[in-house]
Amino acid sequence: MYSDEYDSANSNQLQVSLLSFEEIKKGKIESALKRVRASEEKTEGIYRGWMLKPNQYKQLYDGLLSKNIELTNNPIQYKFCHYLPESYDLIKEYTPKTTFKSLKGEFNISEFENEINAFGNKPIVIKDYVKSQKHYWKEACYIPDASNTEQVNSVISKFIELQDVDFNEGLVFREFIKLEELTNHSASGMPLTKEFRVFVRNNKVMATYKYWDEGDYQDVEPVLERFENVMSKIDSKFFTMDIAKKKDGEWIIVELGDGQVAGLPDNANKDEFYKKLRRNAGV
Ligand SMILES: Nc1ncnc2c1ncn2[C@@H]1O[C@H](COP(=O)(O)OP(=O)(O)O)[C@@H](O)[C@H]1O
Ligand SMILES: [Mg+2]
Repeated sequence: MYSDEYDSANSNQLQVSLLSFEEIKKGKIESALKRVRASEEKTEGIYRGWMLKPNQYKQLYDGLLSKNIELTNNPIQYKFCHYLPESYDLIKEYTPKTTFKSLKGEFNISEFENEINAFGNKPIVIKDYVKSQKHYWKEACYIPDASNTEQVNSVISKFIELQDVDFNEGLVFREFIKLEELTNHSASGMPLTKEFRVFVRNNKVMATYKYWDEGDYQDVEPVLERFENVMSKIDSKFFTMDIAKKKDGEWIIVELGDGQVAGLPDNANKDEFYKKLRRNAGV
């Protein structure tokens, strides 16, 4: 999945090493990093790969540090953009109303009454602290009426079942907002909206991409001015801000993510991305 990025990084004279994601997941950090050459001088590093849980990221961070490579975001910075509840207070003004609570053991709706009742009978979407099951939109993401216990139970149960061992921490409930529609996803049928992924490096916008590779965005271009202030307050050297246009014309933040684990859409020019990364890294 990352071989194109590997080639682009290489051809832009960035030093690249491969690590084993599978070994990180198993907690075997030494073995995961056995192909990573230690640096003689302290050097900044960027991980590009699948999402890691905060404790796995910390192991990676510490493992690389012992090889003199300091990942661009420390574990606290990583978690800040990775877990929606961490950044919610900061981005509140720009993002749909959200409630959340950690989930230990089996799901029992009575323990989440406050979080769900906050939305009355409005439609909501659900996710865990990191991800949704958006491609199972009707079954496991969208709840048309938050006061309908049967609907709530069914969608949340399906969501938890699909997340399985990848479930992150707790449940997040968000007011459903009418966004400008694009098309329905050709594989899953999920309703796609005019969403953009903005990469921010060292507090500057580095690249902006159409989030979806299908559908016609027509002349919609992202308007970033509104977010400049909040962007500058986010304590992360490399993050993404996904934004979308509401039907009434206003722009909102859909979610933040750590830039190291945020996917590039197919429409992104990978060579350009690594060129920009190299430039912004001050190499
Ligand atoms: N509050 C919301 N109102 C309307 N649509 C939403 C809302 N939150 C998410 N969506 C839609 O659901 C998709 C998935 O939500 P997102 O929070 O980005 O989860 P994931 O982390 O799985 O990408 C978004 O791309 C957007 O199209
Ligand atoms: Mg998303």
